[in-house]
Amino acid sequence: MAKPAAQNQVHLPADFEQVFAVAEPIGGWLTVEQAFLLYRQARAVDRPGAVIVEIGSHQGRSTVVLALAAPDSTVIAVDPFVDGAMFGGLGTKEKFEANLQRAKVTDRVELVQAKSTDRRQAWERPFELLYIDGKHDYWTVTDDLKWATHLPEGGSVLIHDAFSSIGVTLGLLRWVLPGTQLRYVGRAGSLAHFEKRRPSLADRARFIRQLPWWVRNVAIKVLLRLRLYPLARLAGHHDKADPY
Ligand SMILES: C[S@@+](CC[C@H](N)C(=O)[O-])C[C@H]1O[C@@H](n2cnc3c(N)ncnc32)[C@H](O)[C@@H]1O
Repeated sequence: MAKPAAQNQVHLPADFEQVFAVAEPIGGWLTVEQAFLLYRQARAVDRPGAVIVEIGSHQGRSTVVLALAAPDSTVIAVDPFVDGAMFGGLGTKEKFEANLQRAKVTDRVELVQAKSTDRRQAWERPFELLYIDGKHDYWTVTDDLKWATHLPEGGSVLIHDAFSSIGVTLGLLRWVLPGTQLRYVGRAGSLAHFEKRRPSLADRARFIRQLPWWVRNVAIKVLLRLRLYPLARLAGHHDKADPY
């Protein structure tokens, strides 16, 4: 049964627990609190014909959460299935397809096997919810943020690793913080929630107040790379995996 982390007790409804029970065995980095945020936002937009775009699907952990949370919607999963030790290439695509089949959502997920940056300019199809978790460098994030132009006013953008990756956060600091399109709503760990609406000063200030936590997470990642686990524990991180 899915359990929230002790420091962040959230009430998890039974229907979400059923969804997370299907997604939990799938490899990936999405935590239970983050899955719950995705689930709530997908639920909120679900209606016949609704479309959710996910950039970066890996083995389908988040794809399955989105598809099960929004049974009347279509999820478009954009992922080139990049090769390498981290993401696994075509073997990952096979796992993605098998995981979707096991979750019985194959018929509601459309795979776009391509880089988000290669598809963005010609994209015309509107959608109701955007989840960004693809390549985490500054330039790709800068481009991925432009997918939000296809959202309706008030639509949500969820961005993974928004406060645990240098590239993602720099992209947000450069384009979102001084921008007029996206207002910061909140976060589940490092999964940030923005809304397509003009931000107020208070919204910008709330975003800025998360930055010390981002600095702490980057410092922890450095300590983990240096195998300085006791120092990471002193900073409150009791895991050998990165903070998400
Ligand atoms: C962190 S994983 C996604 C995890 C997934 N959202 C989950 O929760 O399980 C990042 C994924 O982004 C994909 N990726 C890398 N570059 C990309 C790009 N330019 N466009 C879209 N996806 C990309 C990788 O192949 C990888 O599967």
